[in-house]
Amino acid sequence: MLQHDSPAQSGHPTDAPETSSLESNTRLVWNPFLAEYTGQAPARMRRMELTDDCPFCADLTTGRVPPESQAWIRPNDFPALQPPNGECYLLIYSADHDRTFADLTVPEVVRIIGLWQRIYAELSPRYPCVMTWETSGEVIGQTQRHPHGQTYAVAIMPEMLGRELAAVERAESAGDLCPFCAEVRAESAGPRIVLEGAHWVGFIPAYARYPYQVRLTSRAHTSAITGIAEGEPMEELAAFLPRIIRAYNRAFQAPMPYMLALHQLADERFHLHVELLPVGRAPGKLKLAASCEMAWGFWMNDSFPEVKAAELRDYVRREEEERVVMEQLPAPAQRAIAAYREQFAPLTESEPLTVAWAPGRVNLIGEHTDYNDGFVLPVAVDRVIALAGQPHAGTTSRCYSVHHRQRHFFRSNRAALLAPDRRRRTPLWVRYIRGVLRELVARAATPQTPAFNAAIVGDVPVGGGMSSSAALDVAVATFAAALGGPRLSPLETALLCQRAEAASAGVHTGIMDQAIACLARADRALLLDCRSLRYEYIPVRLPGVVVAVFDTQVSRALASSGYNARRQQCEAATALLGRLVRADDASREIRALRDVTTDDLARYGARLPDPLLPRARHVVTENARVLAAAEALRAGDADRLGALLYASHASLRDDYEVSCLELDVVVEIAATVPGVLGARMMGGGFGGSALILVHQDTFEGLRDVLAAAYPARTGKRGELHRCQVSGGPESRVIALDKR
Ligand code: GLA
Repeated sequence: MLQHDSPAQSGHPTDAPETSSLESNTRLVWNPFLAEYTGQAPARMRRMELTDDCPFCADLTTGRVPPESQAWIRPNDFPALQPPNGECYLLIYSADHDRTFADLTVPEVVRIIGLWQRIYAELSPRYPCVMTWETSGEVIGQTQRHPHGQTYAVAIMPEMLGRELAAVERAESAGDLCPFCAEVRAESAGPRIVLEGAHWVGFIPAYARYPYQVRLTSRAHTSAITGIAEGEPMEELAAFLPRIIRAYNRAFQAPMPYMLALHQLADERFHLHVELLPVGRAPGKLKLAASCEMAWGFWMNDSFPEVKAAELRDYVRREEEERVVMEQLPAPAQRAIAAYREQFAPLTESEPLTVAWAPGRVNLIGEHTDYNDGFVLPVAVDRVIALAGQPHAGTTSRCYSVHHRQRHFFRSNRAALLAPDRRRRTPLWVRYIRGVLRELVARAATPQTPAFNAAIVGDVPVGGGMSSSAALDVAVATFAAALGGPRLSPLETALLCQRAEAASAGVHTGIMDQAIACLARADRALLLDCRSLRYEYIPVRLPGVVVAVFDTQVSRALASSGYNARRQQCEAATALLGRLVRADDASREIRALRDVTTDDLARYGARLPDPLLPRARHVVTENARVLAAAEALRAGDADRLGALLYASHASLRDDYEVSCLELDVVVEIAATVPGVLGARMMGGGFGGSALILVHQDTFEGLRDVLAAAYPARTGKRGELHRCQVSGGPESRVIALDKR
């Protein structure tokens, strides 16, 4: 595994030579006064120091163990030790140049511990001491930023380990317990504990040299890293190490330079421990060694360990709480928090961060019925738009959209929002945000939403027919409420967002998208009567059936898609049919196509000018399909539901004429795949997505068929997603520390 000269040839020294040959690049020199060795390695002066061209990124093949892994072990190009005095190895453990040890996940650190074990097992039979460490920070001599550590195998016993071993020997000859075991017992649950678990105890030693120096000792007596069993003991170590470093970063509100060193010896009496030596003494106070420390070896800790341990304990706890909260957030909410940190002023502890999100939707059935006072049956999906940010005392709100890579600001006090937006070039996504805020302040006697800074991230495809704009509107309203703005009922919010969308984007949508974004519940479809706004939740219980969405990658904007034109045609049809019906039966009132029956169409349809009959027919038949689909869903009849989907598509394609070639192609291809129950275009039409109900076992097969056939027939790629039926908008206020 490792390349090295055979120590047998050079006569492996147990007592190192006082000097090695001058020809050698490295040597050990004995200091007779301090009784210790100094290493000398002039070649190290030629090391590349923190260059922009990372030598590790340039070569991520040499020394990869095992192949394809994210781990590399290589001889150090600028070794401080060479056989017979020692050997030096690099351990690179991420291909990602910008990661740090603190960012690594538990499985990733477990892998690193495996590397430490591997390298120890290889080197310890040949050298008395194997020093493995991991560092961060220029000030402590890190010359490459790429995440990596090192191991030096040394032919002599380094002074500090020699002294630790002597302590073990003293205890043994006095018949006492191993002093490390004794220390673990004494420190457990005590005032110097930083974190402890079933297998490891982390504390600031009573005699610590640095304020934040932590020793992490295994509860079990084992002399080296190879003694740490896989499973819990290793996972606990893997969790604790980055957690301590993250606590340092939190204490310093910046990455704190540190040295993480394994103290281990091939002597059963010795006790493995990890020393973490952060060199910061207080935020802004970096000090490697004071004069008394450098010159006399007399260390002066600027604080009491009990005080600093309490501080670190608190940071560890808060970090843990934050992690738990973060893990429960949808991915876009987590990314919005990260984007906010990047884009805006550093967070302070006194101002919590607010994050809010709202879902995109899949409409099972009921297309273009909502603005005809009809029925719809949408579900929300596990894709959301999220805002993360903080309020402030000013009047200007600033937003950053990760999708658009744009930052925009606008005045968001009441007067400014109520005045028309005269800036012609305001991007649409900002108009949506401003539109919702405007509707909020326009309501009389409501609390004001403070100005804010926020980052926006979503995974609802923009223009993908899953209603990203309603998700954004509702997310903004939810965010505003969480910042102290008006708290409205879900339906009030939906209606407000519908008004906002009409005003800001000029699209007179129905209520469906905003309603489902506000009212959604996990595993439930919403049967909504768009006239009375009464609704009912119907459990989506279709075992083994996947709700899939195929994004045609034909982007669609409602404003330009003929949506408003369809709406006008429906109004015209309503007016005409109303007159015709009432002429025969004065007791009937036709307020919308909802009130028209199939009999009416048979009787009066011929008198409607083109294309009003097919338009009206779509709406009338679609309403009936929605009610039939609700029945099928209640009965768990997936086949019946699927058949209704196909019928809906045909109607939208032929009567309502809002489909397009790509949507028709998807539905046609899907229909050829056994296991597909039904498919149809979804949303406003003219592009966007198609909904496909498919048996779980067929999902991958469907993906393959579409991946081959869809591009062949359309020249576009498209993408198939699996959706979970999910809940509505949420917000959290998170106490996040500055990092
Ligand atoms: C868009 C609109 C909805 C609805 C659908 C078509 O998504 O926002 O109100 O009209 O189209 O069903």
